[in-house]
Amino acid sequence: MSDKENFEKPSTRSQSLYHLQSLDPEDEVAVERAWAILELAIPGIWTQAGLRRDLQQSASHYWLLQDQENAVLGFGGYWLIVDEAHLVMLIVHPQFQGQGLGTVLLAHLLIDARQLAHRMTLEVRASNQAALALYQKFGFEILGTRPRYYGEEDALILWTPRIDTSKYLTMLQSLNGDPRCTQSD
Ligand SMILES: CC(C)(COP(=O)(O)OP(=O)(O)OC[C@H]1O[C@@H](n2cnc3c(N)ncnc32)[C@H](O)[C@@H]1OP(=O)(O)O)[C@@H](O)C(=O)NCCC(=O)NCCS
Repeated sequence: MSDKENFEKPSTRSQSLYHLQSLDPEDEVAVERAWAILELAIPGIWTQAGLRRDLQQSASHYWLLQDQENAVLGFGGYWLIVDEAHLVMLIVHPQFQGQGLGTVLLAHLLIDARQLAHRMTLEVRASNQAALALYQKFGFEILGTRPRYYGEEDALILWTPRIDTSKYLTMLQSLNGDPRCTQSD
């Protein structure tokens, strides 16, 4: 059975079909996997050296979403700056988009970040409707713009409400209730 079939029939499998792993910058295999999905999903934005530098920063918190054979399905991360989390990366493998994995990954990043951060912020292209809809599902609001941040295109600046409240946690748990996913770190 292919991975795609597994995703479409989760109720036929009792064990987890994918898991989240904290990305260790010293884990060469994991770093290569992260680079591969980055280049596949948003080619030409990062250099491999830039990614490696970023992974080494103490503020960086990156996670890989992988299937049972450790193929990478998603890659996401944020910088923790004092009490604010800045979402830097949120990518789902193009073959598996639209199946709820972006929701799983973002919910996990927020659950991780809320241990130390009060809010999360990010920049997104004004034209990225899929990402905007996802972020708005999590309560992000557009609170500003950075003109020509992406060359000709503006960036929208989004912020969550307080993520360290029990109300926000309840909302996150309702969005992250996917029994196919576990965490290993
Ligand atoms: C943005 C991205 C991470 C979403 O991942 P995904 O796995 O497809 O997202 P999900 O299946 O969990 O969908 C979550 C929500 O996003 C929205 N969404 C997803 N795909 C969409 C599309 N093609 N059009 C409009 N909205 C869409 C919907 O609101 C959806 O919620 P719903 O299923 O309850 O309607 C993915 O499209 C991606 O990797 N894009 C390329 C990289 C990128 O642009 N990242 C964001 C940079 S800021």
